[in-house]
Amino acid sequence: MVDRWQGYRETLDSLLEGFQIISHDWTYLYLNPAAAAQGRHAPDELIGRRLMDMYPGIQSTPLFATLERCMRERTVASFENLFTFPDGSSRWFEIRVEPVPEGLCIHSVDIHDRRQAEARLREQESVATLGRMAGVVAHEVKNPLAGLAGALQVLKGRRPDGDPELALFDQMLQSIGSLDRLLQDLLIFARPMRIQSMPVAVGDAVQDALRQLEHDRKLQAHTVKLSADEPSPIVRGDRELLTGVFRNLLLNAAEAMREAGTITVQMSRENGSCLVTLSDTGPGVPEELATQIFEPFVTGRRGGTGLGLAISRRILRLHGGELALRPRQAAGSSGATFVATIPLHPER
Ligand SMILES: Nc1ncnc2c1ncn2[C@@H]1O[C@H](COP(=O)(O)OP(=O)(O)OP(=O)(O)O)[C@@H](O)[C@H]1O
Ligand SMILES: [Mg+2]
Repeated sequence: MVDRWQGYRETLDSLLEGFQIISHDWTYLYLNPAAAAQGRHAPDELIGRRLMDMYPGIQSTPLFATLERCMRERTVASFENLFTFPDGSSRWFEIRVEPVPEGLCIHSVDIHDRRQAEARLREQESVATLGRMAGVVAHEVKNPLAGLAGALQVLKGRRPDGDPELALFDQMLQSIGSLDRLLQDLLIFARPMRIQSMPVAVGDAVQDALRQLEHDRKLQAHTVKLSADEPSPIVRGDRELLTGVFRNLLLNAAEAMREAGTITVQMSRENGSCLVTLSDTGPGVPEELATQIFEPFVTGRRGGTGLGLAISRRILRLHGGELALRPRQAAGSSGATFVATIPLHPER
């Protein structure tokens, strides 16, 4: 019998998929090396310890609620779970839970790469769909809109100074302006974008964005604090597009903060990249939106189009960089923190 168990154990130990047994009081009884590696520990760091001691906070997660239900009702469950590690990073696992006499047996497969590939594919598909749509929109809407704006300008020009209806013309022209900017956003997002690569001091792009928002009422209510490594990190990229990214992030932060708050922008160098961290003192991104906000048309606010972050991430990826939302636990404070990474200019 002992020999046979030894044989089973060797088989389990050599599996690439995670396999673990947890007792009724949540103590690890057995883990194969794959399960321990998935949990970022060695098996003997876990065996004899309790789940909640190794992963503090796990008891308030939906994952634990499912485990608890399986333990109590002796039922089977299988699901995909985004597991958040104590350092705030997370990975997707496919999990199957089965009751065994000792407690629960959990079988887990790391499906993070597959999930990411699927997400990239979805993103490419939506970009392609948007591309077709934007082409139609540009043709069918943009030109008549320009005509409309032109005609309004002519009519406005015919009004005498001080005419009370002049304000109406301005309002109409302003609305056309917003529509035009929306179309512009759509086009930026949909067209295969080419970047004008030049040395850009990141601090300058941030300053440009702040200047463009100088008269924006949404931003005026808040304080913006800037801090940067000296001299300002220089990246290779398109100053106008990078300015657009920072404008989007600043506006999002301003829009999220209902009361007067602070936006902190920090620029630093790290491993060959420039890191621009933008934190605000608003309510933060709701948990249920956090994994989706970079997809086009996902918005959490009334009047939002949900393109700002999708465009900004696309621009940064074209620069060989990335845009990410820092997970809440790691951010350490309330509010949202976005991190833009842009490779440094190799010669500067
Ligand atoms: N700093 C932030 N704090 C809280 N939530 C945020 C923050 N930034 C973004 N979000 C959430 O992410 C959503 C998506 O942002 P995104 O910029 O892509 O679109 P939007 O602001 O809704 O519309 P727009 O296309 O006009 O930018 C927002 O609607 C908001 O719910
Ligand atoms: Mg936005």
